[in-house]
Amino acid sequence: MKVTKDTRVLVLTGAGISAESGLKTFRDAGGLWENHRVEDVATPEAFRRAPVMVWNFYKERWQQALQAKPNPGHLALAKLENWLQDNFHLITQNVDGLHTAAGNKRVIEMHGSLHTCFCTRCHTRFPMKDINLEEDIPLCPKCKGMLRPDVVWFGEVPYHLDKIDALLHNCDVFMVVGTSGVVYPAAGFVMTARYFGAHTIAVNLNPMENSEFIDEFYQGKAGEILPRLIDEWINSADK
Ligand code: APR
Repeated sequence: MKVTKDTRVLVLTGAGISAESGLKTFRDAGGLWENHRVEDVATPEAFRRAPVMVWNFYKERWQQALQAKPNPGHLALAKLENWLQDNFHLITQNVDGLHTAAGNKRVIEMHGSLHTCFCTRCHTRFPMKDINLEEDIPLCPKCKGMLRPDVVWFGEVPYHLDKIDALLHNCDVFMVVGTSGVVYPAAGFVMTARYFGAHTIAVNLNPMENSEFIDEFYQGKAGEILPRLIDEWINSADK
């Protein structure tokens, strides 16, 4: 596939791209996320039942994300955006903020972010660094309502779906990196993009669930494959 500056490239990333930054994926280690069952920490029911436990879990995840550094996979995507500018968009299911830390600007965080929280009463968003995390359940500085992590839990509607839908209908290349392809709606994006004419590429350590919709598959680590692939696109476009 020849990619030039005029090619509209849309990328979808999942936990696999951050694995080489030392952050655990969800489904690789026996289905547990940092020793928790996902449904015990990542559902609205879990938050209603055990808000302190859920808050402690997300405070830890935030601390961990703050320590993590972007790896060569993230940096390659930042280079690609720098080259393609408005022809590049990145949708991520990750909440760690590492794409932004790598320098990407056109980032859509469809599952929210560990770096913000919002008030369940007045809905104001706050950066995590601005709230009092000493409290077991942090309270809204404005209305004293209960704050919650700004992460989309199972059973909740992902963010920015209208914008994502428009991008899926208007891209020439759709590339999925480090996602298992089992969590919808993100798992269906590759099918939609392909129906609307995109060439589809996947980079993953293992074969994926929705592989019948992938035109070009690269098996291996994102941090090794992306820098090579993206340099190849940029160098051969100049020729
Ligand atoms: N390079 C490329 N791919 C990798 C690497 C790597 N270094 N390490 C792991 N992978 C792949 C795995 O083979 C797997 O397919 O990354 C994928 C990680 O899959 P999941 O753990 O299921 O993560 P993800 O697809 O992002 O999960 C989707 O599920 O729990 C929810 O909301 C959460 O956003 C998350 C969603």
